[in-house]
Amino acid sequence: SDNNTLNNKVDTIKTKTTLTKAETASQKVDYSGAQLWKVSIEKEGSRGILGRLRRRNQIATWGTNGTAIDVFIKPDAIQNVTRVLSRENIAFEVVIEDLQKRIDEENPPLDENEVELQDRRGHRMNWKQYHRLEDIDGFLEYLSKTYPAIISVNSIGKSHEGRELKVLRISNGNPSNKAIFIDGGIHAREWISPATVTYIINQFAENFDEESEDIKNLDWYFLPVMNPDGYEYTHMSDRLWRKNRRPGVAGRGCSGVDLNRNFGYRWGGKGTSSSSCSEIYRGPRAFSEPESRAVYEFFQKSAANYVAYITYHSYGQYILYPWGYENAVPPDYEDLQSLGDKMAAVIQSTGGDYYSVGSSSKLLYPAAGGSDDWAKSQGIKYSYTIELNDKGRYGFVLPTTYIENVAKESLAALRVLAAQVNKE
Ligand code: ARG
Ligand code: ZN
Repeated sequence: SDNNTLNNKVDTIKTKTTLTKAETASQKVDYSGAQLWKVSIEKEGSRGILGRLRRRNQIATWGTNGTAIDVFIKPDAIQNVTRVLSRENIAFEVVIEDLQKRIDEENPPLDENEVELQDRRGHRMNWKQYHRLEDIDGFLEYLSKTYPAIISVNSIGKSHEGRELKVLRISNGNPSNKAIFIDGGIHAREWISPATVTYIINQFAENFDEESEDIKNLDWYFLPVMNPDGYEYTHMSDRLWRKNRRPGVAGRGCSGVDLNRNFGYRWGGKGTSSSSCSEIYRGPRAFSEPESRAVYEFFQKSAANYVAYITYHSYGQYILYPWGYENAVPPDYEDLQSLGDKMAAVIQSTGGDYYSVGSSSKLLYPAAGGSDDWAKSQGIKYSYTIELNDKGRYGFVLPTTYIENVAKESLAALRVLAAQVNKE
């Protein structure tokens, strides 16, 4: 949830080709002194002021709750932004004083006992940590080997940098099953998303026999990391990277396309940018990216009867349905609203978190080329973007201690979804 060009500036500096290990480590973007503020937008004209600061690359906007906007500020801009907001009498509050400190504390290593336990289990996945792609892929392979009767893993394509896009399918093989597709990790820095998708996979896979009939009588497709290059990049180089890793044109422009502006329904409309340096760069054409194209081709080839599409993002705690491209809703929006309300209710009763439900253009902002709009345009009725925790206290840098509760809540919501689609 955002749009800025600050991260790209850092990116264009990196042009060296061969690096020593020490140099690679020092190539990590340092967010020391960078801050996250909540800036009130209740005063008339405050959105305009923030828009101007954004265009001048003084700030990046991360999220909003309707009365305030979460604003990311680099250290060298703090003085000026403070001056402008004070002069304009716009209220603000510093939420994170030093982002690098939060990044350093976010994902502490496991103690030795737990590492040993992992090795005995046959995979390294758990939900006490955020994991590298290698652990996630290893977990999927482990499940397909352990439960071959119900689980298969297939690569649906490769990313720009050649990483496999792995889809895990869980099915009891009943040919009359309806199907649900779930993805995560479209945006690289939203680490809670792949963590949540893998948690759900683990629950279904490890307890399939004891699962409810609603779960067992659906075909489940999971793509936990749609943007593996970006995901690895956030671990290795820049924790706050959003887009994929499409290389920039040599000498000018920046790298990265926002995959959630690259899908082919009403591509290129509101809330997108034609500039490669923008955080919401839509790419040169619809489905120009290998990652989004692979999803497109997967659906073209798949014979499954998809009735729901869920894509997990962060943050803000929203259950969003189409349309995203403009402030309009599909004819059956009341069905999406009422199921969304039921999911939000069960989330609140499960783990206590509050989710708002509505169309994404209305609740957030118009943004064309999203995967949810495209899925809906393909006739998949229940198409939702779920923005996971939190509401701007940690933003994208959500501590690992939150993972299990967030994922558990989403699992509870999926059970409500499964019951509904089986009823129809
Ligand atoms: N935070 C998401 C994004 O900016 C929201 C997407 C909602 N869907 C949409 N089609 N606009 O990409
Ligand atoms: Zn996102």
